[in-house]
Amino acid sequence: MKKILFVCLGNICRSPMAEAVMKKLVKDRGLETNYEIDSAGLISYHEGEGADPRMKMHARRHGYLLTHISRPVRELDFDLFDYIVSMDDSNWDKLHCLAPTAEAAAKIVRMTDYCHTHVIDHVPDPYYGGDQGFENVIEILEDACGGMLEDLENQP
Ligand code: 4NP
Repeated sequence: MKKILFVCLGNICRSPMAEAVMKKLVKDRGLETNYEIDSAGLISYHEGEGADPRMKMHARRHGYLLTHISRPVRELDFDLFDYIVSMDDSNWDKLHCLAPTAEAAAKIVRMTDYCHTHVIDHVPDPYYGGDQGFENVIEILEDACGGMLEDLENQP
């Protein structure tokens, strides 16, 4: 069983979208029993809320249903998950501050490091932007999650 936690700032746009993209990839390949996939945020401001309605609307257009409820990252997550996936440099820095041990910090990876077609170093925060930002997030996450799943399935 491989356990993946996607993390962004608010856990209402990028990380719940990544969770939905990866869950669909895993389901489409019949790998559901091999993966546990969740998402969380670095601020608790949106705790208990569903995904941003704009993210939900764009997700639906691409065939994804976002059902995740926002929750903050907990220290326990570093024990429970094998991969803690950050969306940008700010997430990366905050996750390293939260990681209780060096072993825990070694679980933090960058989402965009798994991209095959996009040459970028972060998933841009769409929160204060327009429609194109949300579409861009989905396009990047489909590339990155596809690359990540391929990597994980090729591991011995
Ligand atoms: P996310 O987007 O980190 O992709 O979920 C944001 C959500 C909320 C805020 C910022 C970014 N906020 O400032 O409340």
